[in-house]
Amino acid sequence: MGRTRRGHRSQERTKTRKTEYLKPGGVHDQDQRKIRRLTETIRVPTFPAEFLVSARNSKSVRKVIAEQYPTPVADLPCLGVSDDKVLIVPAPPLTEEQQGLVGPAQMALYNLKRPGTTSAMVDFLNDVGPIPFLLLRCSNVLSPVIQARFCRAFDGFVAAKPSSLHSEPTRSSKTAYHFGIWSLYLNEPMVTTDTRQPTKSVKEQAVLIPLIDRLLRLVQKHMMPRARRLILRYAPQQIEILSPVYERVKKVLAKELADRPVLDFGGLWFCVAVKEGCSEIIHLDFNDTHTLVAIIWVVSRENSSWTGGEFSVPQLGGKIPFSGGQMIAARTRILAHCGAQIIGKGRIAFTCFSDSQLVEQTLFGPSSSADKTKGKKRLQDAVVVLGG
Ligand SMILES: [Fe+2]
Repeated sequence: MGRTRRGHRSQERTKTRKTEYLKPGGVHDQDQRKIRRLTETIRVPTFPAEFLVSARNSKSVRKVIAEQYPTPVADLPCLGVSDDKVLIVPAPPLTEEQQGLVGPAQMALYNLKRPGTTSAMVDFLNDVGPIPFLLLRCSNVLSPVIQARFCRAFDGFVAAKPSSLHSEPTRSSKTAYHFGIWSLYLNEPMVTTDTRQPTKSVKEQAVLIPLIDRLLRLVQKHMMPRARRLILRYAPQQIEILSPVYERVKKVLAKELADRPVLDFGGLWFCVAVKEGCSEIIHLDFNDTHTLVAIIWVVSRENSSWTGGEFSVPQLGGKIPFSGGQMIAARTRILAHCGAQIIGKGRIAFTCFSDSQLVEQTLFGPSSSADKTKGKKRLQDAVVVLGG
C-alpha cells in the first residue's frame, strides 16, 4: 500500500482506476476527443528543410524564399481561422537525407565540431529528441486588462528616451529593445546593453532601469507561468535542453541576477525582444537555435484598432492570424517569417528567445569565431559597464 497525498491507495485499486480511465469510451477517450475538438491541426506534407543548413546571410534567405515561394506575403492564404482553438503544425518526420543534415535533437551539425562536444551530451540530446511541432498558436492567453498593463509599461519606458544599440535593418525598420541575457559573439553570458543602458548618464539610468524592471516583472508574472504550462504540455524538450544553460547562467551571472532578479526567466528563455508593430521583412532569426522555439506574444493597447500583422510563413504555405492576447511558439531559425502589413496602431510584440551562441556554447563548448571581432568590442563594453 503506498502513501499518496490523497491517503493510502493499494496497487490493486490504482490498477483498476487506470483500466477504467483507459477503457474505450472512458475518461481518456473523452479527454482526447475534447483536445481534438479544441485543436486545429494543419499538416504540411514534408519538413521545410531549406534552412536546416544555411549560411548566416539574410540576403540568401530572401533569395531562396523568392525563388521557391514566389507568392507575395499579402496573397498567402490565412491558416488557422478558428480563433478559439489551439492551432498546431506538427513537424513531419525528416527524410533519411534530411536526417544526415542535422545533429542530435535536430541541432545544427556544425555544433558537433566544437571542442566541448561529448558523447554524453549527444546521448542526452538524442534522448530528449526534437520538439514535435513547427508552430503552435494559442489564443486568449493574456486578457485585455493584462495586455493594457504591458502597453503602459512599454510606453512609459519609451517615453523616458532609452537608447538601443541593436538595430535590425534586415528584418524591420523599427527598433526592438532586447532585455535579458545573451552571449552574442562572446563565449560568456552577459546582460544585454539595452537592459543596462550604458550610454546614458547615471541620472538617466536611475529612471530607465526601474522602467525596464517594471516591464520585465510583468513578463515574469504573466507570461512565464502561462508559457511554462504550454511548453510542458507541447514542448517539454525545450525546458530539458535549456536546463544546463539555465544552470550555467545562474552560476556565471549570480551577482547580476541577485541585483536584478527580473532577469531570471526560469530557464524558459533568456532574452525578450520588444517592439512596436512587427518585423515586416522576411527573415530567419539567426540568433535563435535550430532546435528550439521562440515564443512570441502580441499585446494590444486599450481602445486601439488595428488589422494585419499575421505571422506569415511561406514555407508553411500561409499566414496565421495573430491578434492581441495570442501566443505563437515557432521554429524561427528554420522557418523564414515576417509580419504582414499592419493597418492602424496599437500592436506591441514580445519575442522570448534563447540566444543560439549562449545555448550552443553551453552544450558543445566555446565557438572559435566568438570573441574575435564584434565580440571583443562587446566584451570591452560589457566589462566596463558590468564592472562599473
Ligand atoms: Fe523573427
